[in-house]
Amino acid sequence: MPLDVPVDQLPSHIAFIMDGNGRWARRRGWFRLRGHEEGANSLRTITRHCRKLGVREATFYALSTENYRRRPREEIRFLMGLLTKYLVGERPELMENDIQLRTIGDVEALPSGVRSELDETVRLTRDNDSMVMRLALNYGARQEILDAVRSIVADVIAGKLDASVVESLDDELFASYLTDPDMGDPDLVVRTAGEYRLSNFLLWQSSYSELWITEQLWPEFDVSHLEAAIEAYVSRERKYGAVSPAKGASVDSCGDSVPTSTS
Ligand code: FPP
Repeated sequence: MPLDVPVDQLPSHIAFIMDGNGRWARRRGWFRLRGHEEGANSLRTITRHCRKLGVREATFYALSTENYRRRPREEIRFLMGLLTKYLVGERPELMENDIQLRTIGDVEALPSGVRSELDETVRLTRDNDSMVMRLALNYGARQEILDAVRSIVADVIAGKLDASVVESLDDELFASYLTDPDMGDPDLVVRTAGEYRLSNFLLWQSSYSELWITEQLWPEFDVSHLEAAIEAYVSRERKYGAVSPAKGASVDSCGDSVPTSTS
């Protein structure tokens, strides 16, 4: 059955922790790298379907800082090759579907060939505005937060920010120092392959995100699994009950909005 969710109830931003490529390949008796190839196909399918449904932003954890440092060089080389091929191959589809590509993470540290394909794709798609596809590459949330703190301190020292920011610093100003200040907080974070952790992904931005964790491995995560995650998200939103949070919400001990009455 097609997904029956009005556009205004869809998660505007979905973030994906794409895990399980290696396991998917191993279970078939194949090399781990074959799992990444199939993972790239899922990335294409899921991006396409997010666009079709009307999701505004989709962010994919393609490579953590820890992955980049600790995985065998051969695997990283393979992933860099796959990414290059992916970027070149996807450009026509990104343009046709009005999708803008953005990145977060330390892309400067990636090999120059990959960087130039990334720069070219970001440049080519920068005026597309139906959806943002964001790749987190060589990304770590703690590093992103530390970089933001460093930039704020540097701006105080340079006189661009008043020292009174020590008192006045708030969520909005802090978020403007994160890598992509235009990023909306994810409404929904999807993690495949059944691990119950965030793995240093969007720690600031996902403070209030709904989490959806599935046993499916990323290469087998398809349109039906995406729709199941969205349906779960929508039903959780509806659990706010009879009183709209906007009309009478308070904050419970977990910091979540809860209705103050059920009349
Ligand atoms: C985690 O699976 C996945 C990654 C570290 C890489 C994600 C890459 C893709 C989805 C391919 C598409 C990416 C690009 C760059 C086009 P894992 O290998 O850790 O799986 P395992 O935990 O089962 O071993």
